[in-house]
Amino acid sequence: MSTVKEQLIENLTAEDKTSQCKITIVGTGAVGMACAICILLKDLADELALVDVAEDKLKGEMMDLQHGSLFFSTSKITSGKVDILTYVVWKLSGLPATRVIGSGCNLDSARFRYLIGEKLGVHPTSCHGWIIGEHGDSSVPLWSGVNVAGVALKSLDPKLGTDSDKEQWKTIHKQVVERAYME
Ligand SMILES: NC(=O)c1ccc[n+]([C@@H]2O[C@H](COP(=O)([O-])OP(=O)(O)OC[C@H]3O[C@@H](n4cnc5c(N)ncnc54)[C@H](O)[C@@H]3O)[C@@H](O)[C@H]2O)c1
Repeated sequence: MSTVKEQLIENLTAEDKTSQCKITIVGTGAVGMACAICILLKDLADELALVDVAEDKLKGEMMDLQHGSLFFSTSKITSGKVDILTYVVWKLSGLPATRVIGSGCNLDSARFRYLIGEKLGVHPTSCHGWIIGEHGDSSVPLWSGVNVAGVALKSLDPKLGTDSDKEQWKTIHKQVVERAYME
């Protein structure tokens, strides 16, 4: 006798087992889970995979998201234990660099934009700027790219971000770096 599922669902075409857009999060702590919720709420993936060395916590987080999937469109939420970092993932996966994203400098760039906005009294969505390189002391602020609604601040003051800048904009980068060590 056929099961309820078999009676209810008749497959007219072969089931597509391959995800079109899978996003994997390595580390399901505070940052990783905040990213997971954002990805789900913004409907960015049809598969979300979580990776962490702490198996119990990982299982709990995965089940919470699975059980809450009534509220999300992402149909597949999975988890697994791999001891890896962003760079190693990129090297081993063979994926293009644009598809393996570490959160460090993304968050630094967001802070950079917020602090620029605060200094100017402009909402951060209109302030643009990037921090690149390694998260922390050696990170690099791209002063040449800093702009507000397309107006490059370097075109207003070519010394922006340098030691001879009277307004000492470089303290904004210092604040970004210090902030990362306060978490
Ligand atoms: N860019 C920033 O300014 C910023 C802000 C917050 C946190 N961080 C950094 O982000 C990272 C995560 O922060 P958090 O607050 O979520 O930390 P957390 O301690 O809450 O979570 C870290 C998670 O990673 C897991 N983990 C550790 N080593 C692992 C490995 N080798 N493979 C897989 N999983 C592993 C842990 O089990 C834990 O669940 C930290 O390195 C933190 O310094 C950066």
